[in-house]
Amino acid sequence: MVKGSAPHVLSFINLKGGVGKTTTAVAVAEILAHELKQRVLLIDLDPQTNATVNLITEEAWDELDREGRTIAQLFSDKINHHLPPRFDIERSIVRGVSTINGGIRSLDLLPSSIRLIDLQDLIPTIAMAGNYTVNPRDILRIALQPVIDRYDYVIIDCPPSLGTVTKNGLNISGGYVIPTIPDIVSTWGIYQIVEKVRQFAEEVNQPIEPLGIVATKVQGNNLHQRVMTDLSHRRLGKFAESDVAQPRFFKNTISQSVAVARGADPEADLRTFNGKYGNPACEQLLRLTLEIHELCRAKVR
Ligand SMILES: Nc1ncnc2c1ncn2[C@@H]1O[C@H](COP(=O)(O)OP(=O)(O)OP(=O)(O)O)[C@@H](O)[C@H]1O
Ligand SMILES: [Mg+2]
Repeated sequence: MVKGSAPHVLSFINLKGGVGKTTTAVAVAEILAHELKQRVLLIDLDPQTNATVNLITEEAWDELDREGRTIAQLFSDKINHHLPPRFDIERSIVRGVSTINGGIRSLDLLPSSIRLIDLQDLIPTIAMAGNYTVNPRDILRIALQPVIDRYDYVIIDCPPSLGTVTKNGLNISGGYVIPTIPDIVSTWGIYQIVEKVRQFAEEVNQPIEPLGIVATKVQGNNLHQRVMTDLSHRRLGKFAESDVAQPRFFKNTISQSVAVARGADPEADLRTFNGKYGNPACEQLLRLTLEIHELCRAKVR
């Protein structure tokens, strides 16, 4: 990629909770940065702060949070626009994050905060509160303008919803990835996501391409096999009966494994890819990242 050109911006999204969005987003960001030497910014949009505390220590996060150096402060400034703004993008981006190798030099993090829980319902009211200068869905886009061209990739870990915070992420995304457990309940909402994002893309008048669906926590049972067969034939559930095309199903899937489940366990050795993700997930995540990288280089901005 030519230096200074626009990065590939990808949201990891699913309305269903606990399907591996954060795990996949963090691992893809780490692999892009460490193995593929890309300059990566991971944005944590989820008030659960799972991606944040995966990549930095809780102590480090605590200090950032107290000093208003998280995404919550960005939204808080817009809600409380009568107060002097505190958010500073340069001071909020944490450089060289990850447990791997004591930090990956080209991986940066824009952290989240649990404070976002109370704020997120107020964000849509910003315009009504008299702050007409900013559209609520443009807050993140405007804040990132001074830094975004430093990166080859921006990876966004979204909460399991399509609220205004997620829309701020989609609004800067050229594409999105849908992690899902290959079972009936987890794949139920995928059609709705594709439809809703298509509508949103129309509204903001820019392409937001469904890059693909990735199967996570895969177990060798019949149900998982059946759902993955449907996914690979692009005939998942409602897609089979409608004109809406099912997004591609990534060839590389991520197995259910104890090592990945231990990811947040401070007792685990998280200093190497193998220690953090174990086998076979380490290799699977690497191959998935290569698949995503190839697709992005071929098209998605
Ligand atoms: N391949 C896997 N094998 C075993 N456990 C996994 C795997 N992937 C994720 N997990 C575990 O499943 C749980 C949910 O994963 P994760 O936090 O990535 O999901 P999520 O979709 O981001 O959830 P949320 O909607 O709450 O943000 C975590 O405890 C994680 O460690
Ligand atoms: Mg998550």
